[in-house]
Amino acid sequence: MRDIAVLEDGAMWIEEGRIRQVGTRAEIERLIGAGDRVIDARQRVVMPGFVDAHTHPVFAGNRAAEFEQRSQGASYAEIRAAGGGIRSTVRETRAASEDQLLSAAQRYIQWFHSGGTTTIEAKSGYGLTLEDECKILRVIGRLKDIRPVATFLGAHEIPDEYRGRPAAYADLVIEEMLPQVARQRLAEYCDVFCEPGIFSIEESRRVLSAARSLGLGLRMHADQLSDSGGASLAAELGAATADHLEHTSARGILALQTAGVQPVLLPGSVYALGSRLYPNARDMIQSGLAVVLATDFNPGSSPTPSMPMILSLACTQMKMTPSEAITAATINAAHSLGRGAEIGSLEPGKRADFVIHDCSDYREIAYFFGVPSSEAVYLEGRPVWERLKQSD
Ligand code: NIG
Ligand code: FE
Repeated sequence: MRDIAVLEDGAMWIEEGRIRQVGTRAEIERLIGAGDRVIDARQRVVMPGFVDAHTHPVFAGNRAAEFEQRSQGASYAEIRAAGGGIRSTVRETRAASEDQLLSAAQRYIQWFHSGGTTTIEAKSGYGLTLEDECKILRVIGRLKDIRPVATFLGAHEIPDEYRGRPAAYADLVIEEMLPQVARQRLAEYCDVFCEPGIFSIEESRRVLSAARSLGLGLRMHADQLSDSGGASLAAELGAATADHLEHTSARGILALQTAGVQPVLLPGSVYALGSRLYPNARDMIQSGLAVVLATDFNPGSSPTPSMPMILSLACTQMKMTPSEAITAATINAAHSLGRGAEIGSLEPGKRADFVIHDCSDYREIAYFFGVPSSEAVYLEGRPVWERLKQSD
């Protein structure tokens, strides 16, 4: 993961949205013909766009009021028990129209761009009825200027009308929602918030097995708040990823490694919840796992769309090196979404999704924190975002 192949004074040749050739500037300059457009990055770092493999970007309102309560000592669990948390976002999201949700999400896409992200895995999960989950998944499908990968997260929380009846709600997810989501091809993956008191191991197994039999890939919120065997379930089911893993034991890590499940680490949620328990990235890398880093962008536990912030946390709190963090946030993330051959690195044949960062050494992206890092973002060679130039 430390071997990131930096090309000094490099250049790329792009045609019809794909990278055709990568080499030194001298090699590529020879190919320039009449009618070609030259993008001069002026000796700045050019990297594959970040692939953010775990986000919840479609929601109405926000939870700044709960944030204030947490700043005064209330816990995420206490706020949830009092009817807040995910359920409060669900109430607001149900009341919003598809177009309202799209314009809110499109605003967040610009925030993703300012951190250098070109692909997001985007989960539903703030609707929790057939109609509202489909509404959110349609919004994900309509997102512009970003490459979205949709994940159905109907099993994100027990909605108000099913309080105390998680098994009955899991039945609704399995019998009504999943078949429609699959039939309308609204999602590629299915995810479950597997946690004691939310969806148990048994309910999670039922939902994910049903999803798998409908042809969906599997991802899982696992071992976030306790070591409940989530990682082992992800291994048993052959999930693509197990995400969070703050409480995963050595046995859980071994299970992931044996089954080839990729860990998706979300240090933004640890930081924003004020916890100190970061997942054990070093042991995971040591055991050969292709670790992924993602923002978990959502209105509750991780309100950041910034991959540079996640890289900073990975290096300072989890002792990953800047190069490991970049691998985790690009090529490893692309593989976790089944797109390793298309995106995640700047190689001939791949989509020209790239970012010009405002620095001349890639380590600066993780080192400076709290500053937006990207200067310009390109999707398939097309500019989709540019930082406003300051007049001097
Ligand atoms: O990944 N853990 C469950 N889901 C989100 C939190 C969503 C929310 O608080 O709105 C997470 O942390
Ligand atoms: Fe999440």
